Formats: sequence, structure tokens, C-alpha cells
Amino acid sequence: MKKILITGGAGFIGSAVVRQFINDTDCHVVNVDKLTYAGNLQSLASVSDNPRYAFEKVDICDAAEVARVFREHQPDAVMHLAAESHVDRSISGPAEFIQTNIFGTYTLLEAARTHWNSLEGDKKAGFRFHHISTDEVYGSLGDEGFFTEQTAYEPNSPYSASKASSDHLVRAWHHTYGLPVVTTNCSNNYGPYHFPEKLIPLVILNAVNGKPLPIYGKGDNIRDWLYVDDHARALRLVLEKGTAGETYNIGGWNEKTNLQVVQAICTILDALHPQGAPHSQLITYVTDRPGHDMRYAIDAGKIAKDLGWKPEETFETGLRKTVEWYLSNTDWVQGVTSGDYQNWIKTQYET
Ligand SMILES: NC(=O)c1ccc[n+]([C@@H]2O[C@H](COP(=O)([O-])OP(=O)(O)OC[C@H]3O[C@@H](n4cnc5c(N)ncnc54)[C@H](O)[C@@H]3O)[C@@H](O)[C@H]2O)c1
Repeated sequence: MKKILITGGAGFIGSAVVRQFINDTDCHVVNVDKLTYAGNLQSLASVSDNPRYAFEKVDICDAAEVARVFREHQPDAVMHLAAESHVDRSISGPAEFIQTNIFGTYTLLEAARTHWNSLEGDKKAGFRFHHISTDEVYGSLGDEGFFTEQTAYEPNSPYSASKASSDHLVRAWHHTYGLPVVTTNCSNNYGPYHFPEKLIPLVILNAVNGKPLPIYGKGDNIRDWLYVDDHARALRLVLEKGTAGETYNIGGWNEKTNLQVVQAICTILDALHPQGAPHSQLITYVTDRPGHDMRYAIDAGKIAKDLGWKPEETFETGLRKTVEWYLSNTDWVQGVTSGDYQNWIKTQYET
């Protein structure tokens, strides 16, 4: 029965990881989250009363508080997901990205190192610091090829540059101090509980409400999509079986242009939520994002070969589940779109 310290557990992917640990294992979870606009404890409502779940409202940049959390909870492993994660926000305001993604990772690494140095025997040998990162650190691909674990880093946005920096810090803490780390670089995730500033939930909710469906440029940028629960399963597997010092790419072998993604959502909604005219009539092309990477595609061969992971969902099954989830979880959607989730958090933690 292990205790896992998860940073960013109130976010999109972190909450999926927390729910899986509580529902599918006997592990204890300590969720360390600052609750930025992207943190939503309502995504954890189904597990938050479980005695194996604990929440710490802590900023990972706060060294004293992070040290206290390690002292009090004595975790067997860390999964580090807390980050500023939205590329558009990183372009209009990079400061928070530098602070949380770089300085926050450094602060966490130092606390983890102190904690690891205090451990002995099996506890020390079994400790892991799992850093969760993105395929965006590799830059942009042309028409051919895939990102492998050997691909050189060429980050293009403030977001991907901050994540690349954090990957390098994690690598250095392994090589310099021996901290047993694993890093994973994953492609674009989608699924339930995704904050509706990102493409897929934004398009679903706009389409349901008859609003324009904005597509950058010509909609021909390609992303490699992975269902969030498949990512969470991969992360748990890497934590359990991954080799210290290694990195693993995670992807769904699901390359789609943004236009294909939006059209697929429209087709599902035409069947599940017909509104007279086809939803694709709402598609609107908007000015492209500056420096927009053209294509991301992950070679997930290493994690398949070494650890036996493969995704359970195809893009078609995962997308249908996602649309159905947004149509039937109107309370969660309402809470996020009205901002009520933050008022609720205030009454719980800031009175
Ligand atoms: N979403 C994707 O498609 C994707 C793909 C690959 C990798 N990743 C990586 O996975 C991780 C999680 O992504 P996500 O989409 O769930 O992000 P998210 O934005 O949904 O959640 C981030 C969480 O981190 C918390 N947080 C932010 N700053 C913090 C701080 N200073 N201290 C403590 N908590 C803080 C937020 O409150 C939030 O709960 C990130 O590291 C991201 O880079 C995401």
C-alpha cells in the first residue's frame, strides 16, 4: 500500500490519475494543488471522502510548505503534474509559466531530494520522482516522421520552453544527485473534466450552445490525440515499472488535423444532440496562433515494447465518450462556465 504525492491533482489529467489510484488500487494519494483557475475540486467529488485521499492546498513554489508536506506525509513516490498548461495563455503572459513550471519544479525536486536522502533500505530504493511532460518540447514536425525519446528538444512557445526547462532540471537532479526520476512526454489529451479553454471541450460546449466554433488558420495543424484515462493508465505503469533515469513517450497513434477533430465532434453532436442544421455550419476560421507548431506525432514504441502499454480507446470511441460526458454532466460544466467552482473553493479554503 503505497502513498503517492500528486501535484496538480485538481487539474484535468491529475484528477484522472487521482480517481484511478483511489478507485482501482489500494494506494493512498496526497493531492498538492494551488487551485489556480485550472484547478477544480469538483472533478474529485467522487473520491474526496475516501480515507485514502488527502488534499493540501499548496503552491509548489513555496519551499517551506512543500517541505512540510513531505515531512508530514512521507510519500513513497511523487507524480508531478502541476503546471501552467495553456499555450495561448503562455503567449499573452509567460511569467506564471516560468514561475510554476520551472521554479516550481526546482522547488519540488529539492524537497524530494531532501526527503529521498532521509529514506533507507527498500523505501529509498523504491522511491520515484515521476515528471509529467509534453511532446511539445520537441518542437514541430514536417509531413513525415515521429518524435522519439532521442529527438532533440526544440521548444517553440513559452509553454513548451518552460516544460523543456523543467525536463532538463529533472534530468540533472538524476545525473547530479542520483534522484531516481522518470519522465514521460505525452501528446494532446482529451476527455471528461477538461477545462473548456482547450479545443475539444470548447468546441463541444460552443456547438451545443449554437456559438461559433473557432479554428486557427486553415485548421490543418496536426495533433496526436490520447484519451485522458489511457494517459493516466500509462503514467501509473511508468511509475510502477519504468526504469529510473529513463524517459518514455506516450501517444495514441491518432493524428488528426484540427479541422478533422472539429468535424468529428459536429458529426457526433448531429446524432446525439440534433439542432436542425448541421453543427459544422458553426465552424469559423480565426487568425492563426503566432508560431503555431504544424504537426506533433509520437512514436510510442518504447513504452509499448518495454512496459506493454497500449491505449484502450480509439479516437472514435474516446471522442464519443467525451461528448456524451459533456452532454450529461451539466452541473460540472455549469460550475466551470459560471466560475462557481472557484467561489465554492473560496468557501472551503479561504474563509
Ligand atoms: N493537457 C494535455 O494535453 C497535456 C499533454 C501532455 C502533458 N501535459 C502535462 O500534464 C500536466 C497536467 O496537465 P493538465 O492538462 O491536467 O493541466 P491543468 O491546467 O488542467 O491542471 C494543472 C493543475 O496544476 C495546478 N497548479 C498550477 N500551478 C500550480 C502551483 N504553482 N502549485 C500547485 N499547483 C499548481 C492547477 O491548479 C491545476 O489543478 C502538465 O504538467 C502538462 O504540462 C498535458
